[in-house]
Amino acid sequence: METVVSGIRSTGNLHLGNYYGAIQNFVKMQNEYNCYFFIADLHSLTTHPTPANLHANVKQVLVEYLAAGIDPEKATIYVQSDVPEVTELYLYLNMNAYMGELERATSFKDKVRANPDNVNAGLLTYPVLMAADIIIHKAIKVPVGKDQEQHLEMARTFGNRFNRLYNHEYFPEPYAFSYGTNLVKIPGLDGAGKMGKSEGEGNAIFLGDSPEAIRKKVMRAKTDSGPTEENQTKPQEIQNLFDLMKVVSSADTIAHFDNLYNTMAIRYGDLKKQLAEDMIIATAPIRDRINDIAGDADYLRKVANLGADKARESASKTIREVREIIGFRKF
Ligand code: TYM
Repeated sequence: METVVSGIRSTGNLHLGNYYGAIQNFVKMQNEYNCYFFIADLHSLTTHPTPANLHANVKQVLVEYLAAGIDPEKATIYVQSDVPEVTELYLYLNMNAYMGELERATSFKDKVRANPDNVNAGLLTYPVLMAADIIIHKAIKVPVGKDQEQHLEMARTFGNRFNRLYNHEYFPEPYAFSYGTNLVKIPGLDGAGKMGKSEGEGNAIFLGDSPEAIRKKVMRAKTDSGPTEENQTKPQEIQNLFDLMKVVSSADTIAHFDNLYNTMAIRYGDLKKQLAEDMIIATAPIRDRINDIAGDADYLRKVANLGADKARESASKTIREVREIIGFRKF
């Protein structure tokens, strides 16, 4: 059975981008593959969370994984920092990761631009840690959104480089995966780029948002003053609302509003109301389970411990073999 690995950073509540880009595929893949889904708490250290925040955010992602339907009986669910073998592999891979290629990574350049006062080495080597996460379990498929495609390319580069250096076909090549033909990019509500936790207040709809919060955010989403010609190309902010509809609304609803847009009869208020209601329906089953699961500390502990054991079993096997390949041999 092919192995699958993916993770989400513990930087706050999960949003529709995380769900439709990643988690929805996790839930499906757990029935077909040997799956490892983890909470990337080491990656979240680049932004220096307080200990209390770090812990609360890790717990939140664990709760939301479970609420979204990831089943600890089917998939291995673990916290990245519970598997120290990952950081050991990260160190080995760092020896063959070069400044130039790390500095050229789009995500690094974006982070530097957004926060020039916090350009730390962890940020630079972020894709190396991510490669270690993936190849430590020898994963082939990595369910992620479109924004992670370059990181997957880098994971292949680092794995292949290790193989070449030691003349050993050891790590297989991992590829970004989505059930559709394309990797997903869910837009935010600000009319510009993708939905994200750090893209500004009101840009993201969180899985745990109340119906009122969803309505409020959607009603405030950016729009223009309406179409001025029949069948015109939609501007970005309007296309974004239609793209969001594509993931939560029925084909009939989309066709209805498309037709209204093309005949210049559209009222954005109606479109937003429909979009908000469809988002509320789509997230209801997850929202309903979040509170129950969050209150069950024993269950969460059991899931995290079981996952840590299973993940360490797989990771320590790899590390034993990697140490042997590198030449760290016992006397
Ligand atoms: P992170 O935490 O930023 O996002 C987690 C997952 O959600 C997807 N995603 C989106 N997909 C579509 N549209 C969006 N607007 C959107 N926003 C987020 C991301 O593509 C991702 O799949 N580096 C990773 C975490 C990570 C990881 C790994 C992933 C660490 N190690 C190993 C896979 C394998 C990250 O920052 O994701």
